[in-house]
Amino acid sequence: MCDEGSLVKRLEKCLNEKDDLLDELNEWTECLTELATIEDAFGINAESGLQGKTILDVGTDCIKSLYIALKHKPRKIVGISDALPNRASDIEQQSRLFSATKIRFYDCNFFDETTLEKILTREKIGKGEFNIVIVSKVLHHLRFGDQCVVHERDEKHKCDGSEKDCIYRFETEDIFEKLLEYGKRVVVYEAFWPHETDDDKVRGRGGYFTVREWESIFDQIPSKFRGELISPKRCSIDKIEKMAEELRKVDIVCFYLEKKPS
Ligand SMILES: C[S@@+](CC[C@H](N)C(=O)[O-])C[C@H]1O[C@@H](n2cnc3c(N)ncnc32)[C@H](O)[C@@H]1O
Ligand SMILES: [Zn+2]
Repeated sequence: MCDEGSLVKRLEKCLNEKDDLLDELNEWTECLTELATIEDAFGINAESGLQGKTILDVGTDCIKSLYIALKHKPRKIVGISDALPNRASDIEQQSRLFSATKIRFYDCNFFDETTLEKILTREKIGKGEFNIVIVSKVLHHLRFGDQCVVHERDEKHKCDGSEKDCIYRFETEDIFEKLLEYGKRVVVYEAFWPHETDDDKVRGRGGYFTVREWESIFDQIPSKFRGELISPKRCSIDKIEKMAEELRKVDIVCFYLEKKPS
């Protein structure tokens, strides 16, 4: 016989499991909305689609890679993440039954060049050969160096180097150049949901870009790279600097960049 206490515990466990499943389901449906914007940045050829193309998905959620494979049929998608979702192995294995695209996922930090190069060798893709590098809701995580900037606003801050407490500088030119070392076109998507509670988005190392950071990013992009702003409005990346004011007020920013021809 169950006592009341253990019944309450079991009910709580069921409710938590239900919430987790609902979150998971929401992720799958939200990805569809996000991809509707992101795919506009791919530069898809009307006749051949993404046939024969390769994609690197940095900070992959695995779901977008699967949807892209099913809809656009590129030759191969390699997804990397420093915290690969549990679903990675199932999607990688079971997509073989239904998708002609080879989908491969790896636990790898984008800054771990040695591991990333080993992955490329294994996948027989030369450095710089990916047609598209997707950076979806990941750009704000790509901070490096050891200079924590929290001191600039809080003299009492004590660095512990954790993502929760410290924020590192975002080096626009270095990051885009690093991303473009892997592929011809980098597609950036960032979404900002003010109602979402997520420590790292409020103050952590990954932290949302501050207004000043966005301004500095938009300031540096046009002189160094070519490309297009996709959302909130399609226009040449040369105009992005003038749009800084407007972009600060929107929830979604999507653009792609390529190297300027030398
Ligand atoms: C906000 S989630 C975005 C996930 C997915 N790309 C999407 O569109 O929903 C950020 C992901 O990037 C991963 N990530 C953060 N920094 C990374 C890095 N330096 N290298 C690889 N993955 C990273 C995190 O583990 C996390 O899974
Ligand atoms: Zn710090």
